[in-house]
Amino acid sequence: MRHFFSSVLSSFVIILIVLVSGCADQPKDNSNAIVESNSSPVVESSAIGAQTDMATTEVGFKEEIKVGKDYHSFANPEQVEVDHISLDLSVDFENRVLTGSVKLAFTRHDLSANRLVLDTRDLVIHSVMSGGQKVAFTLKEQDSFLGAALDIELPEESDEVTVNYTTSPSASGLQWLTPAQTAGGEQPFLFSQAQAIHARSFIPLQDSPQVRVTYEAVLRTPKELLAVMSASNDPDTELDGVYEFEMPQPVPSYLIALAVGDLRFKAMGERTGVYSEPALLDAAAAEFEDTEAMLIETEKRYGPYGWDRYDLLILPPSFPFGGMENPRLSFITPTVIAGDKSLVALIAHELAHSWSGNTVTNATWRDLWLNEGFTTYLTYRIMEIVYGTDRYKMEAVLGFEDLEADIESLELDDQILAIDLRGRDPDDVFSNIPYEKGALFLRELERNVGRANFDAFLTEYFKEFAFQSITTDQFIDYMQKTLLVDHADKLDIARIKRWIFEGGLVDDLPLEESNAFALVDSARSKWLAGEVNAAQIETKAWVVHQWLYFLNNLPEQLSVDQLADLDTAFDLTNSKNNEIAHSWLLMSVRNWYEPALPRLREYLVSIGRNKLVKPLYRELSKTKKGKTLGKAAFDKAKSGYHPLTVKANEGFVN
Ligand code: BES
Ligand code: ZN
Repeated sequence: MRHFFSSVLSSFVIILIVLVSGCADQPKDNSNAIVESNSSPVVESSAIGAQTDMATTEVGFKEEIKVGKDYHSFANPEQVEVDHISLDLSVDFENRVLTGSVKLAFTRHDLSANRLVLDTRDLVIHSVMSGGQKVAFTLKEQDSFLGAALDIELPEESDEVTVNYTTSPSASGLQWLTPAQTAGGEQPFLFSQAQAIHARSFIPLQDSPQVRVTYEAVLRTPKELLAVMSASNDPDTELDGVYEFEMPQPVPSYLIALAVGDLRFKAMGERTGVYSEPALLDAAAAEFEDTEAMLIETEKRYGPYGWDRYDLLILPPSFPFGGMENPRLSFITPTVIAGDKSLVALIAHELAHSWSGNTVTNATWRDLWLNEGFTTYLTYRIMEIVYGTDRYKMEAVLGFEDLEADIESLELDDQILAIDLRGRDPDDVFSNIPYEKGALFLRELERNVGRANFDAFLTEYFKEFAFQSITTDQFIDYMQKTLLVDHADKLDIARIKRWIFEGGLVDDLPLEESNAFALVDSARSKWLAGEVNAAQIETKAWVVHQWLYFLNNLPEQLSVDQLADLDTAFDLTNSKNNEIAHSWLLMSVRNWYEPALPRLREYLVSIGRNKLVKPLYRELSKTKKGKTLGKAAFDKAKSGYHPLTVKANEGFVN
């Protein structure tokens, strides 16, 4: 991998398409063999020229993707693979650093290999030890988004090294919060977010989803705080500032997570509970009380839950995602505590990852859709089972509308499930494609082979690849040996490959329709035609999804009078539902509806979940007065935003 990135030819301007055939590890008819890109040209030197007419490709080309190669890690697991890590870290709130050691135990696959290459970002490496002796190491030059390789010379007989290190206060995978940024206001808070390539900013390790480790950890914190991890957590642990954890199942590095704060625990069911700051604990436990039912129902369809307990951790509002599926302990934004369970699909989603993602894991970030598409499909199924078909259909329609918006706005290459991420920061490529397009593909397979057969297939798939990291090609191979044999008359491999390797959408999609939304459509039309004013729309029985559908499908341009009519009738500016508020504020920015702007400023400063703030900053950046407002809000909010949210939005205000 070092080789790959050091061989970047910087002078290329134009990129031609090169079709390489005859490569042993890729099927010839694989449509992803066509690699076209508008990203920075990256070329790996190899025998490629020997197979291609170089005369036509002098100005540059991009080579075929090597299936299974992790282009986002410097590590060398094919030679020396870390399989267990032991952490001992002190949490220093004053200096905003973690400091301590990680011991990495490894297996040499290549017996002649004498170096271990780890990923790091912004770490200070104090020393590397093995068998009580210092060993030599080199911290390589830092790449702009991959970090720096830590190259360690291994003593001949050794099978472990210990790295003594300190993180940076600006570690991309950590957020340090002051007491004022928490609900309680008295204690600081720390949390990590490792996916996709941020674990390396708080642990030097082989930061690739194809390297799985078991781990143990000791976290040392101020006495009055509680530390939790994506591992065994003891709900009854004494508050003494020393917390021990064990993760006996092998996990990829992006699932290693920790948080420290004024945390309490409340049980929700036998295997489920919630950790949060005291002020939110009861509300969270009530909002998410169906978690145990979701767990039980998912097990019924897809096989036993393999991770012992399933708890939730409610983060402060700066958490940059909706949720993160850290094993045994999903991290959850507080912005989904709506009071009416309207946004709990997020919990179904993070829970479902316990099967798709945590048990069967994407081998590279190109294969992310194996995690997110399968999980989104399972989420819909769980929501239908627990909350009924009407709710499921509404969520499916809203999900498809999100997908349509991305299909409209993204480059064709970025609409591909098995996306080419070479030379790109995975953070910059986040979209609905792996989620909703992936889920739609699986729904089509379900439609074709029947629900019971497809459930059985998925159950077997999770069993077959349990605790392994797999590529898109492995999934296709597996289908070709199973589903495509059993249902040869109902499935078409060419169409399946179009789903996976082409941009856009195929025709005859398995779309849902919602009767509850049909009502909303007719109300919206009447209002837009001026037949009724807002107060005359019968909305008493509307649920959150219907409001979202109403708002999201209004024309982009509305008059200030129209917005005022809606706001007077429904008080949308003051909606307590963060998703409704988001849609409303977006529309208010677009049409510069001034009465909503104070709420917008408050919203941008109090919420750091990127999905909720980024569209607002983007919209604000389109006009001069919008940009002024956006910049003022961003400057005020910045110190409380997570590094990812800062990075994703600063371009809109500068
Ligand atoms: N694993 C993702 C979050 C993620 C993906 C972080 C890729 C970094 C890189 C998590 O499970 C997720 O999908 N969260 C969504 C939830 C939603 C789709 C229900 C989110 O945060 O919005
Ligand atoms: Zn997910």
